[in-house]
Amino acid sequence: MFITLEGPDGSGKSTQTKWLLEQLKRDGFDAVFTREPGGTEISNQVRSILMNMKNKSMFPRTEILLFCSARAQLVEQIIKPSLVEGKIVISDRYADSTLAYQGYGHGFDLKTLTDLLNFTTGNLWPDLTFLLDLPAEKGLQRRISNRDEWNRMDDYQLEFHQRVREGYLKLAALQPDRWVVIDADKEAVSVGADIYRILLERLNSRSSQLS
Ligand code: TYD
Repeated sequence: MFITLEGPDGSGKSTQTKWLLEQLKRDGFDAVFTREPGGTEISNQVRSILMNMKNKSMFPRTEILLFCSARAQLVEQIIKPSLVEGKIVISDRYADSTLAYQGYGHGFDLKTLTDLLNFTTGNLWPDLTFLLDLPAEKGLQRRISNRDEWNRMDDYQLEFHQRVREGYLKLAALQPDRWVVIDADKEAVSVGADIYRILLERLNSRSSQLS
């Protein structure tokens, strides 16, 4: 099963993905973790180009293709083989980030991006996606107060991040069977409990369908 966590910057995905992996392992599931952009040595090299504040002259088209190149490597090297082995794969961001940030954020055509994403991933989309939703300004504020490293993407204007948040909510509404919207504007422990409860329900209903 392929599970992704999505959300605006500072929505707490990285903490939640880590907890989710720990809980799944504790409960005896064979699970692996990835993150985007990154997750392989080659993808991490592309990540450092994407995130570097020195690269503020990067054009959005360049950005799109770099995110996709990092993702293509991750899919082939880690995600597909792990799914073939029957593992649960949890990814901190995936292709929906490109629809939210480059589609809704920068205004690129969603159909064109979806075609590109299908090419990039070999049509591999998650079975379940958690949207950790919170207002863009709160997310950016969290990043500042946690002293997270400020990267080239964080540096886009607040309006860009607001379009991203609205875009995510639209994507979730378009595919309600795949997306679960989680209120991330509360204590991390309580967000984590919501996510794990829903995930266990999905895993149980999936195994009862298969048996
Ligand atoms: P990161 O430091 O990993 O932040 P986060 O913890 O919020 O995931 O930075 C990744 C940044 O790249 C984040 O601002 C989202 C952005 N991004 C895109 O714009 N498009 C994409 O396809 C992906 C995967 C990420």
